[in-house]
Amino acid sequence: MKTLVIGSGGREHALALALARDGIVTQVHAAPGNPGMSAVATLHDTDPLDGAAVAARAVDLGVDLVVIGPEGPLVAGVADAVRACGIACFGPSARAAQLEGSKSYAKQVMAAAEVPTAMAHVCDNPAEVAAALDAFGAPYVVKADGLAAGKGVIVTDDRDAALAHAAGCGRVVVEEFLDGPEVSLFAITDGVTVLPLQPAQDFKRAYDGDTGPNTGGMGAYSPLPWAPDDLVVDVARRVLQPTVEAMARQGTPFAGLLYAGLALTSRGVRVVEFNARFGDPETQALLPLLDSSLAALLHGAATGTLGEVGLPVWRDGAAVTVVVAAHGYPVSPRTGDRITGVETAQAIEGVDVIHAGTAWDASGDLVTAGGRVLTITAVGADLPQARQRAYDGVAQIGIDGSQFRTDIAAEAAAG
Ligand code: AMP
Ligand code: GLY
Repeated sequence: MKTLVIGSGGREHALALALARDGIVTQVHAAPGNPGMSAVATLHDTDPLDGAAVAARAVDLGVDLVVIGPEGPLVAGVADAVRACGIACFGPSARAAQLEGSKSYAKQVMAAAEVPTAMAHVCDNPAEVAAALDAFGAPYVVKADGLAAGKGVIVTDDRDAALAHAAGCGRVVVEEFLDGPEVSLFAITDGVTVLPLQPAQDFKRAYDGDTGPNTGGMGAYSPLPWAPDDLVVDVARRVLQPTVEAMARQGTPFAGLLYAGLALTSRGVRVVEFNARFGDPETQALLPLLDSSLAALLHGAATGTLGEVGLPVWRDGAAVTVVVAAHGYPVSPRTGDRITGVETAQAIEGVDVIHAGTAWDASGDLVTAGGRVLTITAVGADLPQARQRAYDGVAQIGIDGSQFRTDIAAEAAAG
């Protein structure tokens, strides 16, 4: 199978790497890709947000499957443009991607599907916001309605900060606060069949101990030794399957990756958010543990034949991924800093250095080019070993002013 991965972040590098290691994949192309991806894929200079250009590239390369990584191209209709050219594409239509693109649309789908989630008010002006904040009380949760790369949400005890965040966002969703640990549970779906993956946990706050601002995610691990045994079955039955069915009923079938961000509250599982694509960095921790064919799953979802693809099979052991972020992330990440130690880290047993925000500079040196620069992923026999290897890898990386969390998977590894 010839494949084309769209995007240039850590998730796309992890997808390209897993496809390159997949026995049924003969070629991996990427557009635009990143320096790390050039080791496993042929890179093409195509605008990932330009549906016509991506479709033309896919036709030109004669690929069997296009895999769209980020939400931006999905919301922009790139999957629709590829499919219109007769090429199988993993990723929902622009309309279905509104499940991630609009928090208020997601809430409407959740209501139609009777999916448990936080109570919420959609607010269009400061008076409505203030009323909603006071109705729910602190801690306050305010979410920008549109795409915001993980940074549109504020959770705070400070009412003025909540109001100020809302003032900068246009339409917002004000929600009830959900307590309890968070879990990311992904499902591959063709719009009918729903195959959940193994749960993972992401660390959204910038600093150790879950402090600091929300980020796109600072690290992840899988599996979750502390999660209830019936979590996946329960979420499939109460969240994933009903959501897919409700979207089909509403004439907006969802095919691709359905990402359920969950809070395991004292009152049961609640959906914190849906995304319409693989999570980043959870994907970096999940894919190295997948023992069956990723390409078969993605192709099955893209062609409506997922029912004929077997359940995903997982390796024993665990995986941990730690994000190395640029100086100033997430507020104002600095670019152009030299990156050293990638080969040394990569040489550690079980470690993959996944590129997220990297570039070659004019003299051919690897430099930072985004907020999340690298994700150091390691597999091991168990979480402590995977964690040790990941942090051994991080220790090799040199980037001036860089930052990473030191507590990724620490609690879970300690049991
Ligand atoms: P979202 O973009 O909706 O996933 O929100 C980003 C992060 O904000 C989530 O991963 C949570 O950590 C936090 N968050 C979002 N909604 C809530 C909520 N209702 N209660 C508590 N925390 C939340
Ligand atoms: N890791 C969070 C996300 O991908 O949205």
